[in-house]
Amino acid sequence: MQYLQIFAAIILLGNSLIGYSAAIPSDQLPRINSFAIVDNAGEQYIAATDQGLFHSDDHGHTWEIYEGYRLPATMVATTPQGTVYAFVAARGLLQLNLKTNQWLEVNNQLGSQVLRQLTTTSWTPARLIATNQYGKMIVSENYGIDWHQLSGPYQARTPTEKSGRDLYVKNCQACHGKDGVGETYTVQALTDKNYIQAPALDASAHAWHHTDDALVKLILEGSSRTPRMAAWKDADVSEHDARDLVAYIKSLWSKRELECQGPKHMQCMQ
Ligand code: HEC
Repeated sequence: MQYLQIFAAIILLGNSLIGYSAAIPSDQLPRINSFAIVDNAGEQYIAATDQGLFHSDDHGHTWEIYEGYRLPATMVATTPQGTVYAFVAARGLLQLNLKTNQWLEVNNQLGSQVLRQLTTTSWTPARLIATNQYGKMIVSENYGIDWHQLSGPYQARTPTEKSGRDLYVKNCQACHGKDGVGETYTVQALTDKNYIQAPALDASAHAWHHTDDALVKLILEGSSRTPRMAAWKDADVSEHDARDLVAYIKSLWSKRELECQGPKHMQCMQ
């Protein structure tokens, strides 16, 4: 249950916003999730830990935090070209500028996903393959700027799905993310326990536990838990539109979720 561990780390974040202003010895380094060596004139070590991204210039004896990245860090990786990538919740996928030792944002639109591993080859450096906490592979063809599922970029198969997708991009994507990956973590979402994030609508969360009718009702009438999920019937979304939206959402699911949708989902839980 790696996802829950990450979640625990995220909840603990509130306690981790203090400390680490100076170099710390290796025995005080928080739990390391991922580790890389930068092959750049002298070896620099980088550790992605539950409480932030750290670096060491003395072979791991002492560590300093990268200021601004005191947030759960789940992955750091060096490519065969020597490019260094990391993933930090609320900061997204980052690339290290080797000259300045500063991190640059590559993509912070990955929704509820956090990256656990990232790899590429020396002959296709633009094509990155990563795994997320759900144990799925995702692919980028342009150095991590855009990501899609292993099966390829999203394509609507029917006019209904296409219409649903257009409605989704216009009304829903800002919160529920591109391809339904959910709302991307922000510092507020990580630290305010009352903040209700827009869940992923793809197969990774539990939209598929609801029947079509329940999803349509939720879209039209909104959530009683938060005004952020508005009653879309008041914003010109008709029942027909809501059904198209549900068709689009379901096009993001795989066979298991489609077969197990609604009350049947209990039988399909691992
Ligand atoms: C301003 C942000 C925001 C927008 C825009 C938004 N939502 Fe939501 N949505 C949320 C939040 C927050 C929740 C969680 C509500 C809760 O937990 O009660 C949610 C919940 C949902 C759920 C329930 C998911 C589940 O697993 O139970 C569905 C379905 C949904 N939204 C669909 C949509 C659709 C379709 C649109 C566009 C028409 C939309 N949302 C637009 C924020 C948003």
